[in-house]
Amino acid sequence: MSDDLTCDIATIHPARPDRFADGSVHAVMARLRREAPVHYTSESPFGAYWSIASYKDIVEIEALPNRYSSEMARGGISLIDEDFLGKPDTVDSNPQEMFIAMDPPRHTEKRRVVTPAFTPSEIARLGDSIRERTAHRLDSLPRGEVFDWTREVAIDLTTDMLAILFDFPWEERHKLPIWSDAITSLDMMQNHPEERQAALVEMGTRFFQLWQERADAPPAPNLLSMMIHSSALGKMEPAEFVGNMALLVVGGNDTTRNTMSGLADALTRWPEQWDRIVADESLILNATSEIIRWQCPVAHMRRTVTEDHDFRGHAFKEGDKVVMWYISGNRDETMFENGELFLPDRENARRHLSFGYGVHRCLGARLAELQITTLISEMARRKMRLEVAGEIVRDAHPFINMIKSAPVRIVAG
Ligand code: HEM
Repeated sequence: MSDDLTCDIATIHPARPDRFADGSVHAVMARLRREAPVHYTSESPFGAYWSIASYKDIVEIEALPNRYSSEMARGGISLIDEDFLGKPDTVDSNPQEMFIAMDPPRHTEKRRVVTPAFTPSEIARLGDSIRERTAHRLDSLPRGEVFDWTREVAIDLTTDMLAILFDFPWEERHKLPIWSDAITSLDMMQNHPEERQAALVEMGTRFFQLWQERADAPPAPNLLSMMIHSSALGKMEPAEFVGNMALLVVGGNDTTRNTMSGLADALTRWPEQWDRIVADESLILNATSEIIRWQCPVAHMRRTVTEDHDFRGHAFKEGDKVVMWYISGNRDETMFENGELFLPDRENARRHLSFGYGVHRCLGARLAELQITTLISEMARRKMRLEVAGEIVRDAHPFINMIKSAPVRIVAG
C-alpha cells in the first residue's frame, strides 16, 4: 500500500478492488486530489480509464450528460463492464436496459414514469410502516450478545422496505437481497456465473408474473402497478422491464443497506458523536446526510466521452471511460473539512455526492433518507449504544462500497 503513496502517480490504478476491502482507497484518493485530480490509468483489468477525484470536476461532468454518456451501448455506468466481464451470451444474463444507463431524451421519458412513486407525499405515505418495521426490528435484537448488524438490521430493514414499495409478496421477500447480490457481487460475476444467471432468470420470471397479475388488476399505489399502467413504461420489452426491476432492487437495496452498516461502523468509532445525537435530536436529519456522505455507498459512477475535447488540460477522446469517484469528492478538502470524520453537525453535509448530481441524481434519495432517519431516531429514542465486537468486513468491490458484516453488541438501550 505504501508504494501507492510514493510511486510514480501515472502507475496508480485507483479502482484496484482490494483497496476497497481494507479501506486504503481513501489514502490513494487523497493523493489523487493533491497531485492529479484528473488522472489516467493506461492499463488495468478494467481497461484504460480517467479518474476524476475533485468535487467540482465531478459536478461539471455530471452536468453534461450528452458529452459524458451513461448509455449501456457505449459501456454504461460502471467500470465493471464488458471489457472486464466479457460479452454476455444472452439478454437475460445482462439485464441492464435500465434508465440509469440511458441519456436524455430517452432517459427523461423513462424516469418521468417512475417519478410519481417517489414524490414527497408518496414517501411520507410509507413513513408509518417504515417506523413500525424499524421499531420492531430494534426491539427484537439481542441485548449484550454479539450479532451481525448488517444481516439483522441493514439487510432486514431494506428488504422489508423494498417489498412494501413494490407490494412484493411478503413471504417471498427474502429473495430480494439474494437477487440484488447476484446482480452486484463481483464474486458471483467472476466465479459463479451459472448460479448468478439462474438467480437473474428467477428474478425476471417472478417480476414478470407479478407484472401480468398487476396489469389485469386496477391501478394501485405501488411501484409495479404505476409502471404497468403508465403509457411510457407499460409497453416495455421484457429485457427492459427486468433491467428496471434490477435497477430498483439494487438501487433500493445495496445502497441503503450499506449506509445502515456504515452507521454501526461510525457510531462505534466515534461514540461521543452518538452521545451528541442522543442529547440533541435536532441533529438527526443532518446526521443522516452525514452518514450517507461518510459511508458513500456508491463509490463511483462511470461515463463515456462522446466527443474529443480538452478537460483541464487533458485530451479526452471519444470512447474514453471517465470514472467519477464520489468517495473522493465526498472527502474533498476544499468542500468538506476533516472529511474523514463523521460529524453529525457538519454544516454542508447535505451537499455530498453520494446520490450523484444532475439528471441522474438518485430517484430514491428521499426514501433512503427517510429509512435512515427513522433508524437513527428510533435508536436515539432507545438511547441504544453499540460496541464493536469484531472486524467490519468489506467487499473488494470498486463500484458498490459494500460492508459484508458488522459484528456488534448492544450495551445499552
Ligand atoms: C443511501 C441510499 C442510496 C444511494 C447512496 C444511492 C445512490 C445513487 C446514485 C449514485 C445514483 C446515480 C446518480 C448519478 O448518476 O448521478 C442513483 C440513481 C438511482 N437510484 Fe439511488 N441510491 C440510494 C437509494 C435508492 C433507493 C432507496 C432507490 C429506490 C428504491 C433508488 C433508486 C435509484 C434510481 C431509480 C436511480 C436512477 C436515476 C436516474 O438514472 O435517473 N436509490 N442512486
